[in-house]
Amino acid sequence: MLSWDDYEDTPAGAPAEQAAIATAVQQKLDAEAAQQAAAEQAAQQAAAEQAAQQAAAAQAQQAQQQAAAQAVAAPAAAPVDVASGKDQRVTVDQKAMINCRADLNQLVPFKYEWAWQKYLDGCANHWMPQEVNMTADIALWKSDEGLSDDERTIVKRSLGFFSTADSLVANNLVLAIYRLITNPECRQYLLRQAFEEAIHTHAYQYCIESLGMDEGEIFNMYHEVPTVAEKASWALKYTKEINDPSFTTGTVDTDKTLLKNLIAYYCVLEGIFFYCGFTQILSMGRRNKMTGTSEQFQYILRDESMHVNFGIDVINQIKLENPHLWDEEMQSAARGMILEGTELEVSYARDTMPRGVLGMNANMMEEYLQFIANRRLAQIGLSEQYPGVKNPFPWMSEIMDLKKEKNFFETRVTDYQTGGALTWD
Ligand SMILES: [Fe+2]
Ligand SMILES: [Fe+2]
Repeated sequence: MLSWDDYEDTPAGAPAEQAAIATAVQQKLDAEAAQQAAAEQAAQQAAAEQAAQQAAAAQAQQAQQQAAAQAVAAPAAAPVDVASGKDQRVTVDQKAMINCRADLNQLVPFKYEWAWQKYLDGCANHWMPQEVNMTADIALWKSDEGLSDDERTIVKRSLGFFSTADSLVANNLVLAIYRLITNPECRQYLLRQAFEEAIHTHAYQYCIESLGMDEGEIFNMYHEVPTVAEKASWALKYTKEINDPSFTTGTVDTDKTLLKNLIAYYCVLEGIFFYCGFTQILSMGRRNKMTGTSEQFQYILRDESMHVNFGIDVINQIKLENPHLWDEEMQSAARGMILEGTELEVSYARDTMPRGVLGMNANMMEEYLQFIANRRLAQIGLSEQYPGVKNPFPWMSEIMDLKKEKNFFETRVTDYQTGGALTWD
């Protein structure tokens, strides 16, 4: 190693002497550098060997953990095994809605054509929030006489509830349900649905921003407004267990837990909790108020209608393939969940409509919600619990006939150009 002495001892002599000293110093420097480089190379080699050993150990540990996880996790994908060739080809008979061991990377052959069809229908209905003109809404919202206080409350509560509710649905889909539904065509629809939920959250955010609302107030309603918070926490209760990454299906109890989550989210959250707000905002639109917001809600309602129908098909398919799950205890739990959800939505209706508004009142909404609840019960094979109730808002059926869930916005669908419809001149 060179030290300051190598320089300090250098006499300020003649140029030749200085050159000789400089050469000697340079030689010493070169020797030192070569020595240092060799040492560094040896150290690097040792470090690389150590890293390789650590990586191999980590890989072995990971493989061990994966093997252990696969041993308990029902939906684990089969490892890709090139050598076994045709043995890996999936047949329709091997496919199942839950606890399936067949390769989940093979979309076809389809077992559930309805799931693939819903994926195609969802894509055909594609829309984006920015396509809707919000100018009239902004003018109306900012004018003092535009809306009554009760109407303003309805707009704020609807955006408050929905702006976070769709995130709850999306998170439940992506973090819980997706992993546990072991069918590729259903997963394909779940991915489409997840994107639609992102578009819905975008639409609510777009309305909130366009109207210049207090974002903190709106996005925190699910914490701060009791009738909104009760609906959100009711749904979250059914996510808690299956959201745990270590949760797996495969036993009667865990399969039932998944089934309850599907009923909570598809039949109750998307199937009942959305209906008071949808009806209120669409009623406003029919009265030529908040027409942009109302149009956004119309497209969302169309999507949601398909989500509910998909979920109900999944629930019924699971029942069909696993009849032992649909015992008296499970049926009673499902019935109780739908009735409880209806009560929470009726409370929300009373809270948001303390008196008559927009040609409706809380009693009419209660009957409408019971009418919807009867349908949800019947759709999963349970008897109706609210005898004699009728639909007090037949105009809602004009917008969204509960029996046919697609293509009631013909203009929108044909106006929208998808990748397949574009020409490349
Ligand atoms: Fe949604
Ligand atoms: Fe949805």
